[in-house]
Amino acid sequence: MKYFYIETYGCQMNAAQSGQVKEMLCRSGFIPGEDYRSADIIIINACSVREHAEKKVFDRISFFQSLKKKRKILLMVIGCFAQNNGEKINADLVLGTSRFHTIPELLSRKIREKYLDLDMEEYLFLPPVHEEQYPFRALVDIMKGCNHYCSYCIVPFVRGRQISRKSGDILREVRDLADKGTREIILLGQNINNFGQDNKDIGLAELLFHINAIPGIQRIRFLTSHPKDFTNEIIDAVFRNPKVCPSLHLPVQSGSDRVLGLMNRRYTREQYLGIIRTIQSYGKEYSLSTDFLVGFPGETEQDFMETLSLAREVRFDEAFLFKYSPRPNTRASLLKETLTADEKKERLSHLIKIQKDIEKEKIKDSLNKERTVLAEDVSLKNKDQYSGRDELNHMVVLPGPVQKGGMVRVRIRQIKGMTLIGEKI
Ligand code: SAH
Ligand code: SF4
Ligand code: F3S
Repeated sequence: MKYFYIETYGCQMNAAQSGQVKEMLCRSGFIPGEDYRSADIIIINACSVREHAEKKVFDRISFFQSLKKKRKILLMVIGCFAQNNGEKINADLVLGTSRFHTIPELLSRKIREKYLDLDMEEYLFLPPVHEEQYPFRALVDIMKGCNHYCSYCIVPFVRGRQISRKSGDILREVRDLADKGTREIILLGQNINNFGQDNKDIGLAELLFHINAIPGIQRIRFLTSHPKDFTNEIIDAVFRNPKVCPSLHLPVQSGSDRVLGLMNRRYTREQYLGIIRTIQSYGKEYSLSTDFLVGFPGETEQDFMETLSLAREVRFDEAFLFKYSPRPNTRASLLKETLTADEKKERLSHLIKIQKDIEKEKIKDSLNKERTVLAEDVSLKNKDQYSGRDELNHMVVLPGPVQKGGMVRVRIRQIKGMTLIGEKI
């Protein structure tokens, strides 16, 4: 039992933590397998945020169970999905979101019967690691949990209360990552604007200033913000620190004040638009992405129209669009659903269409602009070209040769689909 394989579903927090588990297992002498076919230990780190995504994971578990009939495999299910479904999961080991640090020790034991550990009493942060396919980028989780309790959301139940890491530990680790060649840091937290408030440490704005000062780091991004806590101080830190990318992710969920109230989001449409006006007052280029949640219980045609009008008014560069599904323990799950599955689907398709048209228009703003690209890799389509991301998080293709991980100034000459074509300057 040496070769392991991790399959990850869910948000970037899960991606980061799968990387950490992999690193921890490698240090304990286990070997990462190419895929599940060659693995003795299969680990599924999965998400519970939507019902549909959970169904797919249950199917995947059944598939791995069928493999177990043919050869010896240890199947382990971890993360939010494990926390939420514990007993219902057919696997050898099921570990909740606070138990990852126990994995190497567990694997050194003989597991004879199903092992279930969902304890959430203590939480240990694991050291951050480089992204697998892209060694210049590291996902750094700086806090866990969420205290917000948006009425539709399962995260506070599966990740527990907010706990921030100590800023001193984070800065030490980021310096260490920079020394090892990391150029881009993505700070992660479900509720990142509130970093440091639970342990009376410095806040996110100050943390951004400190990371900006670390030699070797070229870019800093952070996820996920909440409009209620997205303060002027944070906006100021974004625009005053040149390494902090002005590409912001600010989930709005709905354009209707009534629905925002039912969702317990604690801001109004007007307050959200106010944040955008503050961002614009800096007079600098920025990009804005968001999440929309359509079909919340009680969402009327009028409420939905307000969501459409908000999408048109703000013109987001990118939006992640979701159809509401009830989640266990949440307050919204007690509300009677007022829309049929088809109605929800239709509203989602309508919003997708509008948003896609906006994105296609909006990307044209980049034409002839100068941007800095962090070169990531040889382009998939043409080996003489490189691809990377600009400061606004747009994919840019540029001519080689360039150094992987290098920062290249380009002028955007062309747009193909949602990709920008740059020329070195
Ligand atoms: N902490 C982040 C991410 C939460 S989950 C935040 O506050 O935005 C990511 C997105 O999933 C949410 O923004 C929301 O749009 C969506 N989501 C959450 N619960 C959902 C549910 N019950 N049904 C459908 N989508 C949901
Ligand atoms: Fe969920 Fe709201 Fe917390 Fe985001 S802020 S993780 S949507 S409860
Ligand atoms: Fe999913 Fe957990 Fe992330 S529920 S969205 S993997 S915090």
